[in-house]
Amino acid sequence: MSSPNPGGEREKLVSKLPAQLRQALKVRAAQLSTDVQDAVADGIRAWQTATKPLPSVDTSGAESFGTWLPEGLYDSFKADCGTRGVSYIQGLAQAIALWIEEHPAEGAHPTRRFVVCNQKGGVGKTAVSAGLAQALAENGNRVLLVDYDPQGHLSHQLGLKAIPAGQESLVTHMLNREQAQQDLLDLAVTIEGERFGDRLRILPAAFDAFLLDSGLTVFRGPRHAALERALAPLEEHFDVIVIDSPPSLGLAMDAGIYYGRRRDSERQGSSGLVIPVEAEDTSAQAYGMLINQVASLIKDYDIEVEQLCLVVNKYDSRRGFIATSSLAKWKALGTPPVLAVIPDLKEQREAVRLQRPLLSYAADCEQAHSMRQIARGLA
Ligand SMILES: Nc1ncnc2c1ncn2[C@@H]1O[C@H](COP(=O)(O)OP(=O)(O)OP(=O)(O)O)[C@@H](O)[C@H]1O
Ligand SMILES: [Mg+2]
Repeated sequence: MSSPNPGGEREKLVSKLPAQLRQALKVRAAQLSTDVQDAVADGIRAWQTATKPLPSVDTSGAESFGTWLPEGLYDSFKADCGTRGVSYIQGLAQAIALWIEEHPAEGAHPTRRFVVCNQKGGVGKTAVSAGLAQALAENGNRVLLVDYDPQGHLSHQLGLKAIPAGQESLVTHMLNREQAQQDLLDLAVTIEGERFGDRLRILPAAFDAFLLDSGLTVFRGPRHAALERALAPLEEHFDVIVIDSPPSLGLAMDAGIYYGRRRDSERQGSSGLVIPVEAEDTSAQAYGMLINQVASLIKDYDIEVEQLCLVVNKYDSRRGFIATSSLAKWKALGTPPVLAVIPDLKEQREAVRLQRPLLSYAADCEQAHSMRQIARGLA
């Protein structure tokens, strides 16, 4: 980093910034070999001249942040915040999110991959995939949600239909079928929402995914790498790819877990498994099965697969001793850490029924904040 006050013609800016945004700024500036203070100044100028409406950024829990701006920019920025009717903290967060969006680090670092998985049904894989992806997009990341479950719940709850059998989809691309003709990226649909800008997209489920395991059985090629091969061309367009997995542990899931492995030169904690669980005994048994499966993949393919976190979902302490003691056991594991305990509340179900993203439908509900907490914890 260059001198904080080169030539003395800069002025100190002191504000607050959410920790995740600060981290994202630091990482992106490093990837692009840019000075953080220049990035902030460029972001503020872009914010001042932006003609499109900018999504508001969640600044709850923001921490103090200071940098140096070229003379005059500080005053004009403050005045513009007043004119636009946003707080100085919100204005700065928007400016930095805008700079990150406008300065993708193509090719600099591998796209982060979060595989949300648990073969136990109904634990909240889809809810966590969707919420986490929305929280990441709110914070300036370009996010691809992949509905990897033939049930298509994720697609449905975001208002989309699954791709009919026989048509081009992620599955045809994974199996190299003749229908795989266009770019898979063209099948990714943008999820509208002021908070997400144009940064959140979903690759809808395909009915053909019901046959994916049997297709992979006869697939002539490295079947464990089939998902990676299909998604590789999309990676440069996204900062994060979130996979909503099916409740199973077959070949398709092996390919999913393989996709989340740590790649050469990828930093620890960058990609891996996000595991929603419930605070009850059957969930603990299911987790045991999942880690056995992961352990055999690690051995068979000589790979590293990180369990990034657990998310204890649908928690309700009124369920008594079973719930409280199970939660204590999850927390006592320590590794992977419990990044959030999400209460069993109505907003999640309402958002699903209304086919709205949770973070648009109830941006300030406790569940939405839990999703942001997971996103922060994975930063
Ligand atoms: N924290 C929560 N509070 C209330 N309802 C929730 C919560 N999390 C999930 N749900 C609801 O519970 C049901 C199951 O959740 P979800 O679909 O996310 O689980 P899943 O693990 O993806 O299920 P499957 O194994 O079928 O894919 C859904 O109706 C969802 O809306
Ligand atoms: Mg699901």
